[in-house]
Amino acid sequence: MSSTPQGSRAQWNSRTGFILAAAGSAVGLGNIWRFPYITGENGGGAFVLVYLLCILLVGAPVMIAEIMLGRTARSSPVNAFRSLSSRREPWVGVGILGVLAGFVLLSYYSTVAAWAVHFTFLSLTDSIAGGSADAIKGLFDQLTGNVALGVGWQLGFLALTVGVVSAGVTSGIERCSKVMMPALFVLLLVLMANSFTLDGWNEGMEFLFGMRLESLTAQSVLEALGQGFFTLSLGMGAMITYGSYLSSKDDLTSASLATAGTDTLVAIMASLVLFPIVFTFGLEPGQGPDLLFVTLPTALAQMTGGAILSVLFFVMLVFAALTSAIAMFEVAAAYLQEEFGATRKKACLIAGAAVAAIGIPATANSQWFGVADNIVSNWLLPLGGLGVALFVAWRMDAALRRGEFEAGSRLAGFYGTWLWILKYPVPVCIVLVFLSAVGVL
Ligand code: PFF
Repeated sequence: MSSTPQGSRAQWNSRTGFILAAAGSAVGLGNIWRFPYITGENGGGAFVLVYLLCILLVGAPVMIAEIMLGRTARSSPVNAFRSLSSRREPWVGVGILGVLAGFVLLSYYSTVAAWAVHFTFLSLTDSIAGGSADAIKGLFDQLTGNVALGVGWQLGFLALTVGVVSAGVTSGIERCSKVMMPALFVLLLVLMANSFTLDGWNEGMEFLFGMRLESLTAQSVLEALGQGFFTLSLGMGAMITYGSYLSSKDDLTSASLATAGTDTLVAIMASLVLFPIVFTFGLEPGQGPDLLFVTLPTALAQMTGGAILSVLFFVMLVFAALTSAIAMFEVAAAYLQEEFGATRKKACLIAGAAVAAIGIPATANSQWFGVADNIVSNWLLPLGGLGVALFVAWRMDAALRRGEFEAGSRLAGFYGTWLWILKYPVPVCIVLVFLSAVGVL
């Protein structure tokens, strides 16, 4: 592990390593499961345009702010707020909320990741090929009904996550992202090339990019913002933590934009994989778990080469979920190390046991999924994002902020624009999303 001028704090080996790790955190179930569906439902191309604006005008500025906070303080969220404000101020609460959000998010994220591992296994053992819609629905119901099986895969997935994080920032997280992210991209390209050859390609393109303005409502705009937040891993300190390992000489603005751009590209590619397959077989693109774990395998089961495509798809999904889980877990691991002086291995073991303790009930009780997702996506992430935006825009030392933005940056000239966006439109937008998500708007 390389060291920083500050002492023993780890530092990414390269800017590319950082971008791959940050993109690994961003690219996850949100891109492959949620983005395609909400785009189709909310007006296709019109929604994609609104979404791109949300990423550019809200998501990316908050991401720059998060990475900046981490890099300036060289610590994870709780200590970053603590060290950059005074003891009497409540900012540290934003960091604490982030650590909590990470735990709760990982508890149900790992449940879904475990389903992806199970479906990889089913694909490898050829249990999906030729199956009817009912048979495949049966396979999924069997999995969700069998707690021991679900928990088994979940613990395996969590063990892998803990293993990578405990190997360290460069030898674990960076190394793993450098392999998994390019692999994920290649898998997506292969799957997309296949979808291009299908009869349903045009219908899929139309569903995604057709301008159906009538389906685009004010609610869709708020949904685009909420999705932008979740997909860029904002609001829970993951980017603060990853930013804390970024060299002070690196250009953090362009690295943030590269991360947001990669995330958006993957979401669009995943949609172009999914919909042509689903439409070719005359299926309805349903919402939620059924889209990936029933509808898609049903279509693949009827397709020549479907067994191999199914392996490729679910391996890709596991990679996406794993690099995101690693980021969530690193927030907790870094916090325990800093707060209690624990070694990385010890912090990982303790945090791993805690995540398993709340993750097992998440798999065992399907109600928890909805409750936890509501707490995290509708409350903790928007509030965390709001806290970061307000802190960096209004409270952080101005000279420090400017220096961080401009260091090595080709985009230094955008400092004023970025700060203005962060000061006014961003907080207003986040408050609107929050009010809409909790049912006030
Ligand atoms: N960005 C991930 C996704 O789209 O699935 C979810 C996520 C990962 C949120 C890491 C927060 C986080 F810290």
